[in-house]
Amino acid sequence: MSDAPSRSSDDHDPSYIQVHELSKIYSRTDGAVHALQGVTLTVARGEIVGLMGPSGSGKSTLLNLIGGLDRPTEGRVVVEATDISKLSADSLALYRREKVGFVFQDARLIPALTVYENVMLPLVPMQMPDDEKRSRVEMSLEECNITHRAQHLPGELSGGEQQRTAVARAMVNDPHIILADEPTGELDPENAARIVDLLRQINRDGRTVLVASHDANAMAQMPRLIKIREGQLEDGQA
Ligand SMILES: Nc1ncnc2c1ncn2[C@@H]1O[C@H](COP(=O)(O)OP(=O)(O)OP(=O)(O)O)[C@@H](O)[C@H]1O
Ligand SMILES: [Mg+2]
Repeated sequence: MSDAPSRSSDDHDPSYIQVHELSKIYSRTDGAVHALQGVTLTVARGEIVGLMGPSGSGKSTLLNLIGGLDRPTEGRVVVEATDISKLSADSLALYRREKVGFVFQDARLIPALTVYENVMLPLVPMQMPDDEKRSRVEMSLEECNITHRAQHLPGELSGGEQQRTAVARAMVNDPHIILADEPTGELDPENAARIVDLLRQINRDGRTVLVASHDANAMAQMPRLIKIREGQLEDGQA
């Protein structure tokens, strides 16, 4: 994609995302849940990383903290040299909007809007000429190979097409980081492989990508795999 952030070797940053001694405790009526327990991890700029672990191991919690959807109980998340755990609510919202694109297991498209309109959504609040918004949407649809469905409603799409639309929406604001949480969870193996290929393509275009999954087949394609269990990384994975 022509307007993807270009990354020369000068841009190499081995500690682009730094997660330091991160803990998250959820308080519930039936007691406290230690979802993450002192996780330390570094991701280089332009890397693609698979995060693998059983259900309840803390994958979504970790992605949500890196994406600024939630705040840690203890520890830090530093992205592009900014400690996002210290940001005000407004600055954190800006970080989410400008730096990060999210893809979830269920595509979370708005049923009453077309594919085109769903992909346009993140651009609505942005200060940018309408022409540019349209051309960004078209480029995202193109890259995710879903242009032929632009005027369809989500309910008229297959699961794989819905998920490709969700990836297009995640990319449309040109984020540096893509966080995908079980993006293949509801897909058959063929469509799952297409989504993994698409995420790898997006990574080759210069974005840093984190994919959480317990799908061993999908994760087999990841050049780097981090394993998590009961809120802790397996040894030697920082
Ligand atoms: N909002 C919440 N409130 C209370 N407990 C939570 C909350 N979110 C997650 N948990 C608990 O924290 C632990 C880690 O959950 P998390 O969703 O991060 O796991 P996961 O690895 O993403 O699992 P899955 O593969 O099922 O998606 C689990 O025990 C879960 O029940
Ligand atoms: Mg999860």
